[in-house]
Amino acid sequence: MNDSYVQVTEVGLRDGLQMVKTILGTEQKLEWCRRMVAAGCADIEVTSFVPPKIVPQFADSDEVARGALRIEGLRASALVPNLKGAQRAFDTGLKNVHYVLSASNEHNLKNVRRSTAQSVDDFSNIVAARDETGRRDIKLGAGVATAFGCTIAGRVDEAHVLRIVETLLKAGADHIAIADTVGYANPGQVRKMMRQVLALTGDRSVTCHFHDTRGLGLANVYAALDAGVRSFDSSLGGLGGCPFAPNATGNINTEDTVFLLESEGMKTGIDITALLGVRELVASWLPGEPFVGAIARAGLPKTFAENTEAYHALA
Ligand code: COA
Ligand code: ZN
Repeated sequence: MNDSYVQVTEVGLRDGLQMVKTILGTEQKLEWCRRMVAAGCADIEVTSFVPPKIVPQFADSDEVARGALRIEGLRASALVPNLKGAQRAFDTGLKNVHYVLSASNEHNLKNVRRSTAQSVDDFSNIVAARDETGRRDIKLGAGVATAFGCTIAGRVDEAHVLRIVETLLKAGADHIAIADTVGYANPGQVRKMMRQVLALTGDRSVTCHFHDTRGLGLANVYAALDAGVRSFDSSLGGLGGCPFAPNATGNINTEDTVFLLESEGMKTGIDITALLGVRELVASWLPGEPFVGAIARAGLPKTFAENTEAYHALA
């Protein structure tokens, strides 16, 4: 398409790990981060501030966040489902905090035990809590999950999603994420939705978060690129899925996403060969978990001129 930079955020440590049975040690999680940064992937969602009894994998979220902040070159973010999670994230010193709610009321009730309307309202309380810390350098992202459909409710109305985005922007979101939590989106739907989202967001950044549940993950990335989106979430080996969405599967695969973007002449700053090394290490820690992906299976084509320029050199 063109020669621009596209941000790829690794969410394997958050979305990827929330369904995994093996609980990784804090040091392993930080090693994963260090290796991703060394591979050129500097944007990482490192953990989720949820109660440990809901997702035991994230019992060490404070330590992971603090450890991640000590890794040079890493731009760490974390997911929060409510005000309490946001306050915990602020306390660690994180500068990028991602709040999530679902456009589908049914999914939101299952996921965070309140209505979508309540979750939208709660975002204002999170903005106020951030302002009270006096730290305007904390960027607050707001993500809309099940934005393209829901396994429980079925259809999710596009106009409803856009109204939520507008409200979140008015409330002070610095960043918007649009998520296909359950892999219902198709490219036409993505192109249409993302054009409208970008018309609302102006100079605030927008990320797409796709799952490859039905095989359209990368096609949806392409459609979002076409609409003008330049930031994507993905997870190493396609790990992931929401524990509160029936039949959920993994995110789009980081290696394959970077391959698509670089093949289109876009720059991610990420070295795919190094990424495959990280994948091998993480897979060895998680026996029995599905690690999927075409590039890991088939290798890079001989004709692929890898772009290994570091992001900082591009910035
Ligand atoms: N971190 C740690 N503890 C938290 C918390 C958080 N983010 N939010 C609430 N708690 C604690 C409360 O302090 C309270 O503790 P107590 O029983 O000792 O008083 C307890 O959890 C219940 O609090 P409440 O506000 O009633 O929460 P809830 O039971 O209604 O659950 C959520 C709401 C949002 C915390 C829960 O549904 C959740 O964690 N959902 C996220 C699920 C997820 O990770 N989905 C995948 C990512 S999209
Ligand atoms: Zn997800």
